[in-house]
Amino acid sequence: MSSAHDIGKLGSEARGARSRAHAPYSKFRVGAAVLLDNGAVVLGANVENASYGLTCCAERIALFSAKVQHPAAKIVALAVSAGDDEHPHEGERTRMPCGACRQVMVEFMAPTAQVWIDGVGTQTLGELLPAPFKL
Ligand code: THU
Repeated sequence: MSSAHDIGKLGSEARGARSRAHAPYSKFRVGAAVLLDNGAVVLGANVENASYGLTCCAERIALFSAKVQHPAAKIVALAVSAGDDEHPHEGERTRMPCGACRQVMVEFMAPTAQVWIDGVGTQTLGELLPAPFKL
C-alpha cells in the first residue's frame, strides 16, 4: 500500500462513491475505489440501464476508468461497498464482488493485490479468484 493511503481510507472512498450510483431499477448502490501505484484513486459506481443486461458493476467501471486514465500505472488495491436503498438495514450485509468483476480484476491486478470488501475485510485477489481464465 502507498504510505499516503491505507486500505481503510480507500474503503471510505468506496462507501462515498455509492452516492454516485445510477441504480433506479435495483435501488442497490455499489461504490468502488481503485488505488494506483502513482497515488491516484479512481472511483466507480454501478450504472444501470432500462435494458437491464447492459448494467455495469461499480468495480468494472472503476477498473476500466483507471486503465484509461492512467494506462501506465499499476493497481495496488480495490475497495468495494454495497447496499440496498430500500432495505438500508441490510446495508451491513456482506456483498461479495461478482464473478465477472473478479475476472476483470485478474486482467489488471496482481494475485497479491488487496481487495477490501465492506463488512468482510481485506482479501487478496488470488483468494477471491484462485483459478481465473487466462490466455
Ligand atoms: N453490482 C455491482 O456493482 N457489483 C457487483 O459485484 C455485483 C452487482 C450491481 C449491478 C446492479 O446495478 C446491482 O448491483 C444489482 O445487481
